Amino acid sequence: MSEEGFGNHLVAVIGAGPAGIFASRQLAINDVHVVLLNRDILPGGLAEYGIYFNKYKMKEGLRRQFHQILEHPRIDYYGNIRIGESGDFRLADLRALGFQAILVTSGAQGTKWLGLPGENLLGVYHAKDLVFHYNSLPPYSVRDYRIGKRVALIGAGNVMLDIAHWLIREQKVEEVVSVVRRGPNDIKFTREELKFVIGNLDLQRLTAEIERVRPIADAVGQNVDEAKEFILSALPKGLEPVSDSRFSLVFLASPARILGNESGSVSGLEVEETTLVCSEGDVQAKRLGTRHTLDVDTVIFCIGDKVDETFGLPVRNNAFVKHPVPSYPVDGLSFEAYDPDLNRPIDRVFVAGWSREASSGLVGVARKDGENGSRAVLDFLLHVPALVDPKGVFDEFLGKIGKSNRPVVQKSDVQKLVDIQRAEAERLGLPDFKYATNAEMLAAMGIETTIPG
Ligand SMILES: Cc1cc2nc3c(=O)[nH]c(=O)nc-3n(C[C@H](O)[C@H](O)[C@H](O)COP(=O)(O)OP(=O)(O)OC[C@H]3O[C@@H](n4cnc5c(N)ncnc54)[C@H](O)[C@@H]3O)c2cc1C
Ligand SMILES: NC(=O)c1ccc[n+]([C@@H]2O[C@H](COP(=O)([O-])OP(=O)(O)OC[C@H]3O[C@@H](n4cnc5c(N)ncnc54)[C@H](OP(=O)(O)O)[C@@H]3O)[C@@H](O)[C@H]2O)c1
Repeated sequence: MSEEGFGNHLVAVIGAGPAGIFASRQLAINDVHVVLLNRDILPGGLAEYGIYFNKYKMKEGLRRQFHQILEHPRIDYYGNIRIGESGDFRLADLRALGFQAILVTSGAQGTKWLGLPGENLLGVYHAKDLVFHYNSLPPYSVRDYRIGKRVALIGAGNVMLDIAHWLIREQKVEEVVSVVRRGPNDIKFTREELKFVIGNLDLQRLTAEIERVRPIADAVGQNVDEAKEFILSALPKGLEPVSDSRFSLVFLASPARILGNESGSVSGLEVEETTLVCSEGDVQAKRLGTRHTLDVDTVIFCIGDKVDETFGLPVRNNAFVKHPVPSYPVDGLSFEAYDPDLNRPIDRVFVAGWSREASSGLVGVARKDGENGSRAVLDFLLHVPALVDPKGVFDEFLGKIGKSNRPVVQKSDVQKLVDIQRAEAERLGLPDFKYATNAEMLAAMGIETTIPG
């Protein structure tokens, strides 16, 4: 590091979700010049396109916070740019340009396929796609999702409840059944999210399910009454139902096969029954080999996501691989990308947020992880000489994006778009308004493009 501090250091942060934005802030206040590259036109990641669409106050609060951070003069934002092996830039391109460190905060964009027969049938979806759809992220916003009348949701986390919320209060389907591979004590959702759908929960069926699994849970030391009490504790603050949708939870059931009809659509979900076993201090589901079929016409996997395997970094356990013995640990954690085949760190590359640990925690957790990731980068930069010609490196980067045939969006454009969308919401009397395609967003910002949205 030069005596003046980090003033002549240039870092690329990839992904402007909560982790990337707060990491950028931390780097910028230490005088690092940050180039923040984002796949989506708008910043925010899952805070913009994941959090349930009608949490307007929370989303607007985060939006304002993010835009304020982007105003920092040491942060340059470029949206509508994808990094990856087949993206607009590869990691190697950024390194070759002279970026001194690259912090990858691109979230968990890959899909966890279980390899079950029938996964390709019409009516099988992954939660992320639907979440992007109802939050108006192009191109998911304009895709057609065929939601039937009876829907199986695989998993018992908060994403499952967000999807149940949408199906029950917006789509008003007949039936939603959450298929849980373990027992009532292993559900991961919170009371806060349950309140939106508890009014539709079939309490008689819940009691019957709890009694059915009681002896199996007892055998591993779980008290199902506690789980039942937790679920029912959402009732007092539960919202009035707006549909006749019947919501239920089926325990000790693991998806085995999706059945289809002659037109290639879902006609049922075969589940394998499970029991509970204790293993290494955890309660796990053990498949029993016996199966039964649930009468559903739509199956939605709400089982968490994994990172994008085409990004150009090694992947293990759904996330990018980290150096097992980091040189710049923060709070005992590793943020350094690592090649396990070559047994060596990946030159200048760091990871944070859901790219470091996929599908893990709330916005506040991603924020902290991004900030810690930026601390690891700052520690690393202490050993890296300042750039002799930082402006030259940055100008060369600008020259490259100038030649790209994809229109790139900068922070002034983003502010313009946000103002236009706010005004449009006001004009239409809506709590929020988002353009559904990139072409419309670019047109609103006055950016010419011949590329379809
Ligand atoms: C359905 C759902 C609902 C949620 N609801 C809540 C909630 O109510 N409250 C709460 O606190 N938390 C909620 N969370 C959790 C919260 O959204 C996450 O903790 C947080 O957004 C993760 O931040 P991140 O920055 O690591 O990743 P992300 O938010 O996923 O951001 C990743 C960013 O990287 C960009 N990107 C991706 N690939 C590339 C690439 N190849 N090149 C360049 N850029 C790329 C994306 O455009 C995106 O901007 C929810 C999560 C989900 C899935
Ligand atoms: N409103 C909110 O605050 C909100 C909303 C959405 C998301 N989030 C947060 O975002 C994070 C991710 O949420 P999430 O719901 O995706 O993840 P999650 O909480 O980890 O839940 C995933 C669920 O999928 C199940 N599952 C995983 N793999 C499976 C498989 N192969 N077969 C069957 N079931 C499987 C898990 O069961 P096991 O337990 O048996 O593994 C679990 O029930 C969480 O931290 C969550 O709190 C918050």
